[in-house]
Amino acid sequence: MSAISCELTVLEQTAPAADIRRLAVQWQDRSHEPHAGQFYMLRAWAADATPLLSRPISVHDFDERTGALTFLYQVKGEGTQKLAALKAGDTLTVTGPCGNGFDAAALAKAGKIAVVGGGIGTAPLLLLCKALARAGARPDLYVGFRDEPYGLEAFVPWCASINLATDSGVQGHHGLVTDLLNPADYSLVLTCGPMVMMRGVAKLCAAAEVRCLASLEGKMACGLGACLGCTCHTKVGPKTVCKDGPVFDAQEVFEL
Ligand SMILES: Cc1cc2nc3c(=O)[nH]c(=O)nc-3n(C[C@H](O)[C@H](O)[C@H](O)COP(=O)(O)OP(=O)(O)OC[C@H]3O[C@@H](n4cnc5c(N)ncnc54)[C@H](O)[C@@H]3O)c2cc1C
Ligand code: FES
Repeated sequence: MSAISCELTVLEQTAPAADIRRLAVQWQDRSHEPHAGQFYMLRAWAADATPLLSRPISVHDFDERTGALTFLYQVKGEGTQKLAALKAGDTLTVTGPCGNGFDAAALAKAGKIAVVGGGIGTAPLLLLCKALARAGARPDLYVGFRDEPYGLEAFVPWCASINLATDSGVQGHHGLVTDLLNPADYSLVLTCGPMVMMRGVAKLCAAAEVRCLASLEGKMACGLGACLGCTCHTKVGPKTVCKDGPVFDAQEVFEL
């Protein structure tokens, strides 16, 4: 589905953790509704103001009934600091929905599914778990955080189980999320998070001969496949993360 650019109104912005924000905006265009794994280019500053580029943020949740579109993001630098200053009633410019995303209806036919996330990489996984559950395939969720986890309560209605690991040991398994995952228990594994984690997940899946799809990040300028700035090398040639991805077959993008 093609992306559009428009101005949206903020419904609310909350802080589930110190450097994490949940931003809800009102999406109006019913002919361009987002699906799981897609993202938007967000801009809460003037066209001639810094930072130069809009910031790509994944769809965290979408309510088809009300049109409420939610993002979950980590405040890192100038762009996300400017997004964090938005309050209910403010407006921002967005372009999207961008990217291929996950085809949840088709994936749900695979059988038993594991969804694996790390840190803020869990952001796009909520709508994915919701869509899989609605398509009849409630997944097992595996999540890893450095320290205190956030946002997990929203996953409870959509997942068969939630398996948590933390680096600090503050909650759940003290160690890596990959310690908890046995891909042989599944027919499909879907992952988003730090590259090192996704590579680890992809390796385990390759060893168990289980299909794995990974949602990649890339430095994005246009988000629409026009500038080629986010091109990545895959086993089937160069591809843009923003348009051909961000979801790729892990075998295509990782050396395993
Ligand atoms: C498809 C996609 C989906 C994403 N979804 C989320 C999400 O749901 N939640 C979330 O917290 N983060 C997400 N990110 C990462 C997010 O875009 C960056 O954290 C954000 O752009 C940082 O901008 P900044 O100005 O605050 O920080 P800066 O200080 O400018 O940059 C911090 C780091 O963010 C990355 N970054 C900066 N600008 C861009 C850009 N234009 N494109 C890609 N990366 C950039 C760079 O790695 C940089 O080192 C996503 C990135 C991509 C590519
Ligand atoms: S960001 Fe321009 S082609 Fe991907």
